[in-house]
Amino acid sequence: MPAYETATLGDRTVHRIGFGAKRLGHDRAHAIALLRHAVDSGVDHIDTADFYPTHAGAEHREHDSTALGWANEAIREALAPYPDELVIATKVGPTAAGLARPDQLRGLVEADLRALGRDRLDVVYLRQYGLESVAEHFGVLADLRQAGLIRHLGLSNVRLPHLAQAETIAPVVAVQNRYGVDFGRVNDEMLDVCRARGIAFVPFFALAGTGRERGGVLANDAVTAFAHAHGVSPAQVRIAWTLSRGPHVLAIPGTGSMAHLTENMRTGALSGVEELGSGQDG
Ligand SMILES: NC(=O)c1ccc[n+]([C@@H]2O[C@H](COP(=O)([O-])OP(=O)(O)OC[C@H]3O[C@@H](n4cnc5c(N)ncnc54)[C@H](OP(=O)(O)O)[C@@H]3O)[C@@H](O)[C@H]2O)c1
Repeated sequence: MPAYETATLGDRTVHRIGFGAKRLGHDRAHAIALLRHAVDSGVDHIDTADFYPTHAGAEHREHDSTALGWANEAIREALAPYPDELVIATKVGPTAAGLARPDQLRGLVEADLRALGRDRLDVVYLRQYGLESVAEHFGVLADLRQAGLIRHLGLSNVRLPHLAQAETIAPVVAVQNRYGVDFGRVNDEMLDVCRARGIAFVPFFALAGTGRERGGVLANDAVTAFAHAHGVSPAQVRIAWTLSRGPHVLAIPGTGSMAHLTENMRTGALSGVEELGSGQDG
């Protein structure tokens, strides 16, 4: 197993390069083989959701009603009984009909428990959009945590006021927001606040950048030049940059490709990579 560093996620220690299940692709048998290969390669942090994998393409959004939606079942089929060290983080909020109401959240958590075959979910993010206050939704998840259905809570797609609201209700162990070379300084303050508060920061679209749902590794001249100079791939530069942003940052590159997974897991620290990423906000 490669000797990349670890970081804390709640009361667990995980490798800083994990795996995002959104891009598992359309072929479920291939996805199962890929998930097994991921864990064999050292992945001990999988980021998932019941609406993953999503279809490729810019027209398909995170909370799209056409999402394939079998990632959790594939994870169970591939990996159960789960290795002790594996942390599976799920997110609830998006539904085909829009953001879940607070009274719908318990059903979504129970569905994740069933699909993953677990008695308790390791980490559940409230993946919000459009809420001024997350207090009511987060309060429901805090109750489910108290009831033993969830070990740790996180927040996704949030601003600093949301984090402050949630922290008055229950501990937040992770924040998952978009962040990458091409997003400029968006979320820098959130990154710093998370570090100061001992909260893991888990960026998405670190490779896809402002291409977002379209996927692929966004072309960026500075990244390409840096990759050539160091004999590594642009994806590895982007992952190394992500990890250079602080010891509390966890990468979750998404891929449906065995070769890309292997390449991503082999990313090492790259001297000077932190100088990249002063681009425009996206
Ligand atoms: N909370 C949220 O709102 C939210 C939103 C989006 C995503 N997420 C989470 O964050 C994770 C990461 O985001 P993401 O998957 O959307 O985007 P990403 O990790 O930035 O980029 C994924 C894209 O990069 C490509 N890729 C990966 N490794 C590569 C390599 N070594 N060489 C070339 N191409 C490579 C993949 O294509 P191939 O399949 O061809 O490798 C895929 O299209 C997701 O999987 C999901 O778990 C959360």
